[in-house]
Amino acid sequence: GPPAPHVLVVLGATGDLARRKLFPALFRLWLLDLLPERFHLVCSARTAPENRDLFLAMVHSAVEARRGAIDEVGWQRFADRISFVPTFNDNGAELESAISAAAKDLGSEAHCVYYLAIPPASTESVVRMLGAFDATASAKIVLEKPFGTNLESARRLNETLWEFFGEGRIYRIDHFLGKEAVQNILALRFANGMFQPVWSHQHICYVQIDVPEQIDIQGRADFMESTGTFRDMISTHLFQLLGFVALAPPSRLDAWSLRHEMVKIFRSLRPPDPTRVVFGQYEGYREEAGVDEFSDVETFVAMEVYIDDWCWIGVPFYLRTGKALAAARRTITIGFREPPLKVFPGDVDETCNELVLELTDDPKIFADVRAKIPGPTFDLGRGRMRLALLEAFPDSEPLEAYERLLLDVMRGDPTLFISTEQVELLWQLFDPLLDEPPPLRRYPRGAWGPSEALRLPGERGWRLPDS
Ligand code: BG6
Repeated sequence: GPPAPHVLVVLGATGDLARRKLFPALFRLWLLDLLPERFHLVCSARTAPENRDLFLAMVHSAVEARRGAIDEVGWQRFADRISFVPTFNDNGAELESAISAAAKDLGSEAHCVYYLAIPPASTESVVRMLGAFDATASAKIVLEKPFGTNLESARRLNETLWEFFGEGRIYRIDHFLGKEAVQNILALRFANGMFQPVWSHQHICYVQIDVPEQIDIQGRADFMESTGTFRDMISTHLFQLLGFVALAPPSRLDAWSLRHEMVKIFRSLRPPDPTRVVFGQYEGYREEAGVDEFSDVETFVAMEVYIDDWCWIGVPFYLRTGKALAAARRTITIGFREPPLKVFPGDVDETCNELVLELTDDPKIFADVRAKIPGPTFDLGRGRMRLALLEAFPDSEPLEAYERLLLDVMRGDPTLFISTEQVELLWQLFDPLLDEPPPLRRYPRGAWGPSEALRLPGERGWRLPDS
C-alpha cells in the first residue's frame, strides 16, 4: 500500500533538478496513487518567485514540459498539497513553521523528508539550519551527488550529516540505480542460475561500461566548471554500475546485504593507473557562456579499472562517458572467453560471445552468440538472443528513476541508495588521480572522444559504435 503520511520538504524548489525531475516524478506518483493519501509538499528556494501562485504556475509548466498536457483535476488536488516559503535565511524560521504546520495537519504519525536539490556548496549550511528544526529528530534527508569533491570534504559533510541524522536516515541518490534497466542487472544475475557460475575471471575476459552522451553542457556551465565529468558521472553513476556488475551474490535483497557486497568490491579496486585514464574536453567548451576561457575541466573520461579480488583478478573494466559525443547510449558489454578448442572452420567474429545490456528506458539485453548458418556447411555467423523488458511485460507500469527513488525514500527503503562507507572508499581511491589528473586532450564535437581513448581497450577496441 501507499507509504505513511509524509511531509516532503523540497529545498531548491526552483532549480533545474526540481523542475526537470522531482516535480514531474511526484506528480506521476500522485496520479498513480503511489503517494500517501495524506501528504504535504513544502517548497522553498533561496531565489524564488514572490508568491505561491507564481510558484505553482512554475511547477505546472515544469510538469507539463515533461509530461505534455496534464490532467487538470488531478493537478488541482496535487497543488492543494503544496505550500510555499518564498525564501529561507540562515535560521529558516519561516520554513520551520511551514513544516510544523504541515506536520500538524497530518497528525502524529507523519514522517518528514528533506530533499536537498541545492548546489553542493550550500549543503553544509543548509544541513546545519535543518539541524535546529524540531522535525529533524526523526526526519530523513535526501542528498544529490557529488557527495563532497574529495575525501576530506566528503568526510566533513558526512560528519555534519551524522550530527543530526543517523546513517539509516541519510538517502544519497544516484539516480542510475533508480533505472529499471539497472535493477534488472540484479534480477538477471541473481534470479537465474545460469549466469552466476560463469560470472568471474574464469569465463569473462573484459567488461565495458560505456555511457556516451550527445548533449553538451546545455547551459549548466557553473555545474560543469565546479564538478567535471569525473565527479559528475564516473565516480558516481559508472562506478555504481561497475558495482552492480561485479558484486558477489548478496544473501538477501536488502540495503545491508547489498551495501556489504558493494563495499567489498570498492575495497578491492586497484588504484587507477594514470596512464590508463584519458581526460578530454570538447572543442568549443571554453567558448560556452559561463565557462572560463582557460578551463581545464574535463567533459570526457575513459579509464581502465581492475578489481583485485578472487573473482575479477586480471579482468579489465573499461569505463567511458562524455558530453558532445557521437551517440547517446548506456551500454554494458560483458565479454566471454573464447572456447578452449576451435572445432568449427572459418573466421570467428570477435564481437560474438558477448552479453550486451542496453540500459535504456526501454531496457534490452542481448546475448551475441555464434550460430550455425543454415545450409550444407558448418559455417558460423553472428546471432542475437534478445530480451526486451517492456515487450516481455506489456502490462507493467515502469517507473522512472526519480519516481522509484522518491517512493523508496517514503517507504523507508535505502536499498538503492549510497552508503557513507561507499562514498569515502571511492574518494580515497580517486583523490590521488584527481590531484594530478592526466593531460587534457581535445576532441571534436560528435566524435567518440579524444583519439587516445579509442585505443584504451587494446586491439579489440570499444564495443560502440555497433558494427
Ligand atoms: C546526471 C548528470 O546525474 O546524469 C548529467 O549530472 C547527466 O550530467 C545525467 O547528463 C544523465 O542521466 P540520464 O538519466 O539522463 O542518462
